[in-house]
Amino acid sequence: MKAVLLPLLLLAGTLAVPGAQAQAPAVLAASESNVLLEGEQRFRPQWSARGLVAAQEPLASAAGAAILRQGGNAVDGAVATAFALAVTLPQAGNLGGGGFLLLWLPGPSPARQRGCLAGAAPELAIGGGTAVAVNFRETAPAAATATLFLGPDGQVDRARATRSLLSTAVPGSVAGLALAQRCYGRLPLPQVMAPAIRLAADGFPVSKELSDSLAAAAPRLQADPVSRRQFLPPPLPGTRLRQSELAATLRRIAAEGENGFYRGPVANALVAAMARGGGLISHNDLRAYRARLVRPLRREFRGHPVLSMPPPGGGLTLLQLLGILEPFDLAGSGLNAAASLHPMAEAMNLAYRDRNALLGDPDQVPVPVERLLSAAHLDALRRRLDPRRHIPAPALEAAAAREGTNTTHLSVADRQGGLAALTTTLNFPYGNGISVPGMGFLLNNEMDDFTALPGSANAFGLRQGAANAIAPGRRPLSSMAPTLVFRPDGRPWIATGSPGGSRIITTVLQVLLNRMVHGLNLAGAVAAPRIHSQLWPDRIDAEEGLSPDSRRLLEAMGHSVRQAPAMGAANSVEVLAAGGSLGAVDPRRAEGPAVAE
Ligand code: DON
Repeated sequence: MKAVLLPLLLLAGTLAVPGAQAQAPAVLAASESNVLLEGEQRFRPQWSARGLVAAQEPLASAAGAAILRQGGNAVDGAVATAFALAVTLPQAGNLGGGGFLLLWLPGPSPARQRGCLAGAAPELAIGGGTAVAVNFRETAPAAATATLFLGPDGQVDRARATRSLLSTAVPGSVAGLALAQRCYGRLPLPQVMAPAIRLAADGFPVSKELSDSLAAAAPRLQADPVSRRQFLPPPLPGTRLRQSELAATLRRIAAEGENGFYRGPVANALVAAMARGGGLISHNDLRAYRARLVRPLRREFRGHPVLSMPPPGGGLTLLQLLGILEPFDLAGSGLNAAASLHPMAEAMNLAYRDRNALLGDPDQVPVPVERLLSAAHLDALRRRLDPRRHIPAPALEAAAAREGTNTTHLSVADRQGGLAALTTTLNFPYGNGISVPGMGFLLNNEMDDFTALPGSANAFGLRQGAANAIAPGRRPLSSMAPTLVFRPDGRPWIATGSPGGSRIITTVLQVLLNRMVHGLNLAGAVAAPRIHSQLWPDRIDAEEGLSPDSRRLLEAMGHSVRQAPAMGAANSVEVLAAGGSLGAVDPRRAEGPAVAE
């Protein structure tokens, strides 16, 4: 591969020669002239002698940290934080949505003993411990069909795909959190859920972020009488928001586990709302829903094992990007330089081409995971990459985007070095804006992540293919990519992930490159300006901070570059080799710091 690439690179003069494949984990910057010690960097991660939680909203982080202090492990901490986010961050934290969790715990796994593995072998042994992924992505209801969102004119009815009850897929969050906790947690569920129940019942002071976000979503929330009563007019910052119906639903789940959601009064209310409002979800759909333990995808990047979420999650595309970019000397070219950004953007387009055309729910459609991650395929993609020129999307062929502003990601480290990375969402902020009467929670509009019509763009501008068509029981393709990185000897190192719709994968990529290649500390790696490209639309979106001369150089290579709103919120943690941990909440959406155990 190098033999092919090298002459091209030398010819180009804009890119440094591919560098060493292996780098020591603690290297701070690869180019000698550019070495900064951790303490000299502009951003400082939080430090804890034991564990910590990095989440979007500090009351939820504190809920998780309290559970760590009570002897919970990273999974207990993540589950406690996720349930608390369903209360304090209703735009993304949820009971009515879904998500993915990646976890690593030291020592032998408790899951077999607890009857969680029955025949399946989802666990991956690494670093003297166990890694596993939890897939709690929503599923299409049994009555859903491929043409569900097409109007009489054969075009996609965007309102139906995003704002109606038809846009709601069968929720997975409660099943996923309960499964993770039952199979890998250390504390009883009622104890882990107690902080969330308190926050819902007693209320909490509304943050500026929540107040603004409710005001922005008011038109959608206004349309549903239950959401309107609960959330509008938007409470002013500092006002207490109490959610007694949500507290009752949480208590039911704490007492009965997932049956408290998928059966009984909550299920009855959800199914009745569907029947009244033209939705498809039935009792059978709810009873049939299963969260799954699945084997994380694994690929080495410069000697570091990287584990991420398999399809329908975004980890395959992330690992492809790392694989394409591995030989490039991005550190030598420099952070934020056109010479680094060009190959990154081109690699993104190549990887999104595969994603758009080939990825879907592997439980229902054949997804060539091994081939797409093979050295041969990644070398072939790299050979398509012209180091001097942008390849326009039509030439590359395939199939773009408005920032959806909410999904949320949390990362947890416990005192034993256990890690959890959990991304969860309702898709849009507040999902489709519709609440289940009497139950205190909002419904997702995740059905829009399916291909409504091949080649036509969804809310994130993604033009996807038939592999991601709507079908009963199928999970829509997602970009969510909770990710764990290990040290070359297998010990756990970093947990990260992000919201951002189709920008999730490229956000996680840049956090990893900033930390592992450019030598930024965790806080700097999370804060640094990001770019994004996804083939269609054919342009690079760049956050503020891209220098004008980098922009001019990129334009000279044929890129169109647009200054874009902030992308993602990559709340991350890192386990220190000497013990203790670091946390970095993304400053783009920080409402407060990471919280130490
Ligand atoms: O699963 C996905 O890819 C999308 N439903 C995620 C939506 C999202 O991240 C919106 N927030 N920023």
